[in-house]
Amino acid sequence: MRELKPARILAIETSCDETACAVIENGRALLASTVASQMDIHARYGGVFPEVASRQHVLSIIPVVEQTLAQSNISLKDIDAIAVTRGPGLAGSLVVGMNMAKGLALGTDLPIVGVNHLEGHIYSSWVYNAGEAAPVEPQFPLMALLVSGGHTELNIMTDHLTYKRLGSTRDDAAGEAFDKVARLLGLPYPGGPSVQKAAENGDPTRFKFPRPKLENPYDFSFSGLKTAVLYLVNNLKKQNETLPVADLAASFQASAVDILLNKTLQAARDFGAKEVLVAGGVSANRALRQAFQSQTEFKVHIPAFSLCTDNAAMIAAAGYYRYALGHVSELSMDVQPTWPLS
Ligand code: KG4
Ligand code: ZN
Repeated sequence: MRELKPARILAIETSCDETACAVIENGRALLASTVASQMDIHARYGGVFPEVASRQHVLSIIPVVEQTLAQSNISLKDIDAIAVTRGPGLAGSLVVGMNMAKGLALGTDLPIVGVNHLEGHIYSSWVYNAGEAAPVEPQFPLMALLVSGGHTELNIMTDHLTYKRLGSTRDDAAGEAFDKVARLLGLPYPGGPSVQKAAENGDPTRFKFPRPKLENPYDFSFSGLKTAVLYLVNNLKKQNETLPVADLAASFQASAVDILLNKTLQAARDFGAKEVLVAGGVSANRALRQAFQSQTEFKVHIPAFSLCTDNAAMIAAAGYYRYALGHVSELSMDVQPTWPLS
């Protein structure tokens, strides 16, 4: 295995509604991580309000960076590079983190590394808390399932920073489907955790939902599943029946998990992957974690619960591999709100 140079990275993440900063050593050992969530602010709108998000980042970014540095017990002069989420995400939110990172890089004369947010999610599986034993890192070729609020895709990784996208969603992302179904069932924002909670008391076998057949077997489609839930809810309402929210949530969740698990395992077999990795906000879902962890065909990497949703530790980890492998960025770089991973 290649020896990579040791380095400490400070990373900033502001792609959506979390203002986050982290410091990591050698891509894996997390020294400090802060996530300032705006969830309560956006809850009243039932979703992220972009202008409110960017202005909240402006207010939070300096305290979040200061708090992270204080927690890490090191100072800026011990840092080797600044990493920052360049995209995909909300332009107005990304710009706040980007400008903070540029200011830090300029003021310290450190290199800056622009990181793809989706690459960050994938690298969250490399992270562990400094002081704890390092878990074995994921091995290539690796089948990576990315399931977040905006993306659902399968990539085969043959090496660090090397991705080939095999398929993606034709319509809604998995997280988006959880969020929309939560709204249909009258469950509170944020939808994913609400559906999971409601499903705990439900019967996952009560309702059977359709599995779409797609031309590319590695593509996903969740809008049909969401529409099936909608029709069922409308029919039940017409008959003046009380909505069996727990059973609906559990049955929807079981279908979504089943689709994600089966397609990922099939892709892993077809492409000769050694191991499987699951990343992105939806990987926080307990039923999904359990489904992947209870199969025995492939070793599976799922990030620690706190690293599944947006954070800067994952950006620091990906930023380290970019920095160590010579992929530094220009200070003149712009944000890329629709930047694909591959
Ligand atoms: O990765 P993430 O934090 O932000 C994006 O990059 O999009 O993902 C957010 C998504 C949301 O759609 C949220 O509902 C979903 O992840 N999510 C969950 C759970 N926790 C977060 N979905 C299902 N079950 C959960 N426990
Ligand atoms: Zn994310």
